[in-house]
Amino acid sequence: MYRDVSSCNTYNYGDALYWDARYIQEGGSFDWYQRYSALRPFIRKYIPTSSRVLMVGCGNAVMSEDMAKDGYEDIMNVDISSVAIEMMRKKHECIPQLKYMQMDVRDMSFFPDDSFDSVIDKGTLDSLMCGTDAPISASQMLGEVSRLLKPGGIYMLITYGDPSVRMPHLSRPVYNWKIMLYIIPRPGFEKPTGSSTKSYLEPVVLNEKGLLPEDYVMEDPDSHFIYVCTKKADDTKELSNAPIYQLTADVL
Ligand SMILES: C[S@@+](CC[C@H](N)C(=O)[O-])C[C@H]1O[C@@H](n2cnc3c(N)ncnc32)[C@H](O)[C@@H]1O
Repeated sequence: MYRDVSSCNTYNYGDALYWDARYIQEGGSFDWYQRYSALRPFIRKYIPTSSRVLMVGCGNAVMSEDMAKDGYEDIMNVDISSVAIEMMRKKHECIPQLKYMQMDVRDMSFFPDDSFDSVIDKGTLDSLMCGTDAPISASQMLGEVSRLLKPGGIYMLITYGDPSVRMPHLSRPVYNWKIMLYIIPRPGFEKPTGSSTKSYLEPVVLNEKGLLPEDYVMEDPDSHFIYVCTKKADDTKELSNAPIYQLTADVL
């Protein structure tokens, strides 16, 4: 498996100034990795439409708007880029289900503990992993996500990061998350003829090291990974049994 940072085209992805400049230059809208239509089966399965949802690092994606059209009632969108937030607030001022706030996901102290039923992250932890002090930023962000989730709440992470580089961060006992993994091909990928008929809607079971099983065949090498992390109630802590995947040099 690769070093995480080798997947970053630029280390500026962790920098607010980079994102402000990019949003000024490009305007419009852009969804990283996947559109809502492809993610809908997973989102509808795990996140009821009545949930209070936090979209971390919303950027100028259409995702939240599509979710509101699909019945989601309360989506708080945050991003470090004030340019993106102002653009999106203006664009969606007539959609009361969507709210916007400029915020650094490493410090969301504006919100009290247990504020949200679900947190959705499409590409934002990935951006932090490309910045300086990546492991510290990741643990600050994930600590905040864990604090803001109600017991039983869901953190859904959509990422390019395979389990070797994401599980060491997600499996820390302090978060007390039960983690399910799904793997979906990038948009437009065509299955080779004669390939397996396995369904992307089935979770992939990791081995005891928190890695993909050795015989797992990833049809699209540029697949995306969906980690569904459920915050267990405090009284269900299973620390003695929970595997802890080590943070090695490869994932720092
Ligand atoms: C890869 S883009 C993904 C945007 C959007 N979620 C999507 O799916 O298209 C990452 C987003 O994270 C935001 N971001 C980066 N670092 C952040 C931080 N520390 N706090 C909040 N947002 C951040 C960027 O401004 C950018 O909008």
